[in-house]
Amino acid sequence: MEEKINRVKFIINGRHYSAGEEFGVDLTLNEFIRRYGEYRGTKYMCREGGCGACVVSVRAPQPNTKEIATFSVNSCLVSIMSCDGWDISTVEYIGNRKKGYNIIQKRLNHYFGSQCGYCSPGFVMSMYSLVKGSDRHLTEAEIENSLGSNLCRCTGYRPILEAFKSLAVDPNSNILRKIKDIEDISEQICPKSGKKCGGTCEASADWCLVNMNSASGSDLPKKISLADGRLWYSVADVRSIFDTLKDVGYKSYMLVAGNTAKGVRPILFYPKVLIDISNVKELSTHYLDVNLVLGANMTLTDTMHLFKVLSKQNDDFWYLDILYDHLDRVAHIPVRNIGTLAGNLALKNSDPCFQSDIFLLLDCVGATLTNS
Ligand code: FES
Ligand code: FES
Repeated sequence: MEEKINRVKFIINGRHYSAGEEFGVDLTLNEFIRRYGEYRGTKYMCREGGCGACVVSVRAPQPNTKEIATFSVNSCLVSIMSCDGWDISTVEYIGNRKKGYNIIQKRLNHYFGSQCGYCSPGFVMSMYSLVKGSDRHLTEAEIENSLGSNLCRCTGYRPILEAFKSLAVDPNSNILRKIKDIEDISEQICPKSGKKCGGTCEASADWCLVNMNSASGSDLPKKISLADGRLWYSVADVRSIFDTLKDVGYKSYMLVAGNTAKGVRPILFYPKVLIDISNVKELSTHYLDVNLVLGANMTLTDTMHLFKVLSKQNDDFWYLDILYDHLDRVAHIPVRNIGTLAGNLALKNSDPCFQSDIFLLLDCVGATLTNS
């Protein structure tokens, strides 16, 4: 494989960073943000995708459409080598004492949704990613359903949920009554039109609940020799995966996408070769013939979205709505944003004791694995 660039490049809070041979594969985005970025607002606790203290917001091109999407990730699960082309925001960036706080931070404060504050950055970034990643205003029910990714040990969830529900398109009057500062309410009014935000203009102010951002991708393929003696490859198509496998010969290898399985089964020793396939378009798309064929590398979030759309568009696929409801209970949003179908099934394959809902659902509808 031709070696073009031997570093991954990414942005954290508007500053450009790169990472390469000086790091090992087990350096996580969380450690990088805290140790090298010196942004310690992003916390950590469980380091297995369970508590949400480490949630940050990412803008990155989608492998199938190249459109920019905003989504939350658990930074404790993501290898820094997976962050190529990402634009990452932490709680310090979306609002701070100097430039003023983001409306989400203000609402959490107004509703007394923070006590020790350890969980607050994670909650704020989950909510921020949710609203920035959506092309419309969210309902109360959607907001309530979306925060299973975060734990709070001391405040209690009611004030946190009330704070965030006050930003919904349909906030109930009891919740709105608790907003003390009338100026705060006016932040839902568009400063451009003077009317309630309709989500149709191109404003990108921090308070705006509509994602209008853009970011640039990264040139592939890449090959990086890491400090721990391992090799990291990033590829853009299926052929390059096989070329890489030829290149590595008999060395142990692992295909990497979201790497969220690490939260369920810790990886004590990584293989010698890691092949990042998260940008392989062919694996991230779907097509319909007489069957629905899903790309192995589709994320659970994309799969859910597809199921919702197809169940409405096509009577033959009415049952996908039921699968959607079940998938909504699998892990939580930051994990589903980068966790893939194949990753889940590979874990099930390597460890039959793993209780895979994905395997269960696919088995129930008689799905088969193909290599087409
Ligand atoms: Fe708990 Fe990342 S540290 S989810
Ligand atoms: Fe203390 Fe949530 S405010 S853990």
